[in-house]
Amino acid sequence: MPNRFTLDRVAFFGRTMEEYLQAFGLTTADVLDKHVLDCPSGPDSFVAEVNALGGDAVGVDLVYDQSATELEAKGRSDIAECLAQMKAKPTFYPAMDFDQYAVDKTSALERFVADYTKNRKRYVAAALPKLPFADRSFDLVLSAHLLFVYSPVEEDGFSESSNMNLQWHHKAVREIARVSAREIRLYPTAAMNSAPRRHRYIEPIMADLCANGWRVGFEPSQYRQLSTEMNDCLVARRLT
Ligand SMILES: C[S@@+](CC[C@H](N)C(=O)[O-])C[C@H]1O[C@@H](n2cnc3c(N)ncnc32)[C@H](O)[C@@H]1O
Repeated sequence: MPNRFTLDRVAFFGRTMEEYLQAFGLTTADVLDKHVLDCPSGPDSFVAEVNALGGDAVGVDLVYDQSATELEAKGRSDIAECLAQMKAKPTFYPAMDFDQYAVDKTSALERFVADYTKNRKRYVAAALPKLPFADRSFDLVLSAHLLFVYSPVEEDGFSESSNMNLQWHHKAVREIARVSAREIRLYPTAAMNSAPRRHRYIEPIMADLCANGWRVGFEPSQYRQLSTEMNDCLVARRLT
């Protein structure tokens, strides 16, 4: 399919807190009174900004065993590479202001690097589907732009070489749910390379959460990166 958008690896690419709140349909007040896990956190500035406002957020990413200098270089190079790929497929991003996008991503990266340098304990190196936290350690766990997005391209994702299949997603979401005492939010939920519809893993993932004592639904997202249709996040709240 010539107009397919694919990626050969997971980008080290992150959003600002404002973009995160839009993506997850949350307000600043919603996150400041909770112990929050951002998983994966990448070079986003959510953790830095929440803590700067007096909140309590922790980030997890598989590359947090690397130095700030290494991560800054990786982040700058991935911003340039991702933007080049996005500009080459303009039909995927019809409403995108690429210059503003580059400014936002660079701002998130710089804020992340400064905080990662000063407050390293907030950034935990770990890889889904295994997290190094006790059951119910956090009030809220947020997961953006890894689940669903990097599933294989033939299964509604962007990845050309992914092992993040449905079985991996079940393990990852069960692990995210295990460490949350109250709520999890996952974004995005749409299929990547198709007319607007849900990613095909959403239904089995929701069924699994329901079977394990969670109430699940969708809440609209104001974040505008992909299609404006089917743009919402999956919200699950613990019943037991
Ligand atoms: C595109 S970034 C998203 C960052 C942030 N959540 C956001 O939305 O801006 C994806 C991140 O997932 C991380 N990652 C990839 N595989 C992972 C895994 N198995 N466990 C934890 N992090 C992973 C990458 O290192 C990268 O930083």
